[in-house]
Amino acid sequence: MVGISKSFTGTDALRNVDLEIFTGEVHGLVGENGAGKSTLMKVLAGLYPDYSGEIFFEGRASRIHRPRIARELGIAMVHQELSLVADLSVAENIFLGREARSRFPALINRRQIEKEAGAILTQIEAGISATQRVSELSVAKQQLVEIAKGISMHSQVLILDEPTSSLTEPEIRDLFRVIRTTKEKGVAIIYISHKLAEIFAIADRITVLRDGVKAEFSPRWTVGRRRSCARDGRKKSLRLLSPDSQASSARSCA
Ligand SMILES: Nc1ncnc2c1ncn2[C@@H]1O[C@H](COP(=O)(O)OP(=O)(O)OP(=O)(O)O)[C@@H](O)[C@H]1O
Ligand SMILES: [Mg+2]
Repeated sequence: MVGISKSFTGTDALRNVDLEIFTGEVHGLVGENGAGKSTLMKVLAGLYPDYSGEIFFEGRASRIHRPRIARELGIAMVHQELSLVADLSVAENIFLGREARSRFPALINRRQIEKEAGAILTQIEAGISATQRVSELSVAKQQLVEIAKGISMHSQVLILDEPTSSLTEPEIRDLFRVIRTTKEKGVAIIYISHKLAEIFAIADRITVLRDGVKAEFSPRWTVGRRRSCARDGRKKSLRLLSPDSQASSARSCA
């Protein structure tokens, strides 16, 4: 994403933001409340057609002005507010809006989507049955259903917006395991959070937004370096390093 800007009436939510994402990485997107994290990702997911700037997907300029275009490119977003239908089964939720393509309604279709959903749930070791009703699931399990939904669309980019806000520690560990498995399949994961410990635990690289502007960016190894600094208790702030200052940081934290 290059030079992305987006305004709401009276607010510049994003100003000239660049973001580069690679396959097979977890990219942490951090910043305080109102920094523009969700807005930036909603632009990528095609929800704000009136953004300015450019988006390149696999090197090709792509105007993402509809959710359908994002989906076709393989971009899926799990929103801060989960959006599953409580009265439907897990399989129905995973394939919602897509299952109607078959000429044969109901039974055949249902068996097919349950089989496909079951395969994805097994693949990510979600511990959920495809036939369960979503209303029976904890928030953590619902989160995993949303991720399974993203995977079922053969997504190449999976955006998770504050996925742990209502999860317990063991549930977060489960989620991280699923994220790592998904990343190993070559999916790029954008992980939005304002919890630094989580970001340091899961992210390969980090971009920081502050008041709608990109404030900092960390190349891959700097995150590890910062994490070890943070463990030492010597560096606790979120000031990440520009590529130019890596060498001096490495010395100061070694
Ligand atoms: N639909 C909207 N209408 C008007 N203003 C909005 C809308 N969505 C976001 N904003 C404003 O844009 C700015 C960025 O908001 P955004 O939700 O992207 O921040 P965020 O970093 O995701 O924050 P949080 O951590 O609270 O989720 C804020 O000033 C917010 O008030
Ligand atoms: Mg947000």
